[in-house]
Amino acid sequence: MDRPRDEAPPGRLVYVETYGCQMNVYDSAAIVGLLGAHGWRQTDDPDRADALLLNTCSVREHAEHRVISRLGELRQRYARDGRRALLGVCGCMAERLAGVLVQGRRIADLAVGVDQYDRLAELLEIALRAGPQEPAPIAIGHRGDAHYVAPPAANPANNSHLVTIHKGCDYRCTYCVVPLTRGPQREKAPEVILAEVAAVVAAGGVEVTLLGQNVTAYRCGEALDFAGLLERVAAVPGLRRVRFLTGHPRDLSDRLLRAIGADPAICPWLHVPAQSGSDRVLKRMKRLYGRADYLRMVEKARAWIPQVTFSGDFIVGFPGETDADFRDTLELVRGVGYDTIFSFKYSARPGTPAARLPDDVSQTTKRERLAALMAAQDEAWRQLAAAQVGQTVRAAVEARARRGAGWWRLRTTNNRKVVLPLRDGAVGQEHEVLITGFKDTTFLGEAAAGPRARRGDGSCGS
Ligand code: SAH
Ligand code: SF4
Ligand code: F3S
Repeated sequence: MDRPRDEAPPGRLVYVETYGCQMNVYDSAAIVGLLGAHGWRQTDDPDRADALLLNTCSVREHAEHRVISRLGELRQRYARDGRRALLGVCGCMAERLAGVLVQGRRIADLAVGVDQYDRLAELLEIALRAGPQEPAPIAIGHRGDAHYVAPPAANPANNSHLVTIHKGCDYRCTYCVVPLTRGPQREKAPEVILAEVAAVVAAGGVEVTLLGQNVTAYRCGEALDFAGLLERVAAVPGLRRVRFLTGHPRDLSDRLLRAIGADPAICPWLHVPAQSGSDRVLKRMKRLYGRADYLRMVEKARAWIPQVTFSGDFIVGFPGETDADFRDTLELVRGVGYDTIFSFKYSARPGTPAARLPDDVSQTTKRERLAALMAAQDEAWRQLAAAQVGQTVRAAVEARARRGAGWWRLRTTNNRKVVLPLRDGAVGQEHEVLITGFKDTTFLGEAAAGPRARRGDGSCGS
């Protein structure tokens, strides 16, 4: 019997390498699922694969350089072995650089953007049959209906299953390439999201992380905003915890903060990138909030969400950033008290509004500011962590710790890591833990009481 045109012969293997953010992690799982329906199986070994797909990121120049050198390395390796494996580029770089990558120097044999994965099986077949002289398939551009559903992962990082709730972003932060690569914000329907969460529970999962570039802007019609979605997800029977990434500081409304504080299944951890502590810079970044707005949001969160913790992102060396601007950022970091910050040197991205500004902060200054920011964060964290010693927290078992036999790694619902010896560790089980010390960002503890594995028992918080 003839196979449909886009069906792979039995036994075709695909290898997927993922770069960039959690949304790409989710998309890679969706890609494997979609290809699986066409006869492809995933392999962890690139040397056995018929097709190698790199799911890529464009957020900074360095991220793109890594992928380009990886493509070169894979090309050379297979040319040397006399083996022809197909090299494909998916994700944000495909949207931005398809022409450069598959035409011209033909660094890749195929480029498929973030809204075209339902066509990937068909395009792989075309590319596999194409001779080296034939044009390589390219599928890019944004579509409203392109929402993919990844099957629940077997072993998700931190035992938290990712569930993407929307695509793209309607904000226009001047440094950011994401609206160009990911397109406008398009919501996944709440019933699809709830069905995905139910599937996670059916597969044995107890925790989900709702994902999007800007989850706090989620809105489905007049009736359902992000707070409402969170409440509905938290109420899915069998689910113990829900987290979310990334919140935009402007959208952390009173209603949302109160909803998070009111439901013990919604984890009290806010990843709220400030990007800068300087009003002047925030304005030039078009972040749509000022330093005082941000601090007010933090204050309300502290008042309304028991045990809330914060993490964030910062960019140093944005065009025109002065020493005084940077001091404002240091002061903000010292004042907020983040558990973690991710800090980046500004990287001009072609096509973004900021790329038209002179990139006038030198590499040396960017490097120095990055180091100073990290040092300020380390200092602020040590004070925060020291204040936790002697406290009892509740945390769920994640995995065995590398510290030695009998040691386990747990995560508090407000997203802190703690390691301790347990007589009988079982993944997902909750324990009361006495914090006895800390090393870097990991707390040390000892069991304070017997294990628990209930939901909604006040387990959010440490
Ligand atoms: N949607 C999120 C994060 C987007 S990208 C938000 O609104 O905050 C992740 C992080 O990369 C950003 O928070 C920012 O700190 C950093 N980033 C984005 N564009 C950048 C650029 N051009 N140069 C340096 N860092 C950048
Ligand atoms: Fe980029 Fe801003 Fe959208 Fe975040 S909110 S993805 S930084 S444009
Ligand atoms: Fe990178 Fe695209 Fe995510 S640019 S950060 S992979 S949305």
